[in-house]
Amino acid sequence: MSGQLGAVLALTLAILTYYYCQHESNMLSITSKVKLNNGNTIPQFGLGVYQAKPGEVAENAVLIALKTGYRFIDTAAGYRNEKDVGEALKKSGIPREEVFISTKVNNCDQGYKKTLAAFNNSMEQLGLDYLDLYLLHSPNPGPRKRKESWLALEELVKKGLIRNIGVSNYGKHHLDELLEYCTIKPVVNQIEIHPWLTRVELVEYCRKLNIAVEAYSPLAKGKKLDDERLLNLARKYSKEPAQILLRWSLQHGYIVFPKSDREERIKTNADIFNFELDNDDMKVLDDCDEYFTTGWDPTKNP
Ligand SMILES: NC(=O)c1ccc[n+]([C@@H]2O[C@H](COP(=O)([O-])OP(=O)(O)OC[C@H]3O[C@@H](n4cnc5c(N)ncnc54)[C@H](OP(=O)(O)O)[C@@H]3O)[C@@H](O)[C@H]2O)c1
Ligand SMILES: *[C@@H]1O[C@H](CO)[C@@H](O)[C@H](O)[C@H]1NC(C)=O
Repeated sequence: MSGQLGAVLALTLAILTYYYCQHESNMLSITSKVKLNNGNTIPQFGLGVYQAKPGEVAENAVLIALKTGYRFIDTAAGYRNEKDVGEALKKSGIPREEVFISTKVNNCDQGYKKTLAAFNNSMEQLGLDYLDLYLLHSPNPGPRKRKESWLALEELVKKGLIRNIGVSNYGKHHLDELLEYCTIKPVVNQIEIHPWLTRVELVEYCRKLNIAVEAYSPLAKGKKLDDERLLNLARKYSKEPAQILLRWSLQHGYIVFPKSDREERIKTNADIFNFELDNDDMKVLDDCDEYFTTGWDPTKNP
């Protein structure tokens, strides 16, 4: 009798464990990763530091984020805070290989030699000896310079100094042009995406090419936080509007890195792994699309 009971209990436990694991594998967390076309991975969630004031403000934001569990920082030479990112990383005491650092070549530094020099400068600022991801900030400098810069990036990968290279603000025609001469494909295209700028066609094109999509300005820089459709969902899920927007990005599979330099928001922006928007509510947000850009839009440039 007790043998039978034991067998029933063991079976029940096995079934529960099976379902738990199935569920768990579908669940997102702050350390969830996205697989790139070169076999490497990138955390799906991180911190952006555009307009985080260089110096103490930027350094503190990054340090708080790392303490909160963020493991990916998106900066750029143009943000003038690479030094602060590097300082925070050192102060955090977290092993280098556990944090994913991404920076970008400034438009004014495009061209072969200039890009190599810009890379040296960024590495010195960051205090790193290898970089996780280096992006061309935009296609704006034109076809000749962006080609030269890309070839410089490929060389840095071959030297083992950069793990992954990608582009930002590239439209379909820029990607087509790049694919004609690259010997290393970009792993990501970093473009502005949120419910008011969904870029459905460009996203589909990137996915067809196996280029991961990084959705920048996921909070639309805070400019749409009073949209009634968003506020309704915030009430329904008992979450902040910003948390609803970040969840929308994650559930679309985008890599996302909201910017804040306030401790409270850095924490709440990461508190998005304990709820899920249902399909109808994802659709409500998808339908907000109105091609609303919050900054520049180089994807349309020649
Ligand atoms: N490649 C490119 O061309 C490009 C362009 C733009 C952005 N990006 C990248 O994408 C990152 C994010 O985009 P973003 O900085 O443009 O804008 P964002 O993340 O969409 O929004 C940031 C703004 O929202 C505020 N905010 C943050 N959390 C909030 C919350 N929980 N509730 C209400 N307001 C909140 C921030 O203010 P506080 O800081 O005061 O909290 C800031 O003003 C950038 O930092 C950068 O890494 C790349
Ligand atoms: C960059 O740094 C490397 C190693 O320190 C050096 O060999 C190279 O000449 C530098 N390149 C430029 C363009 O400054």
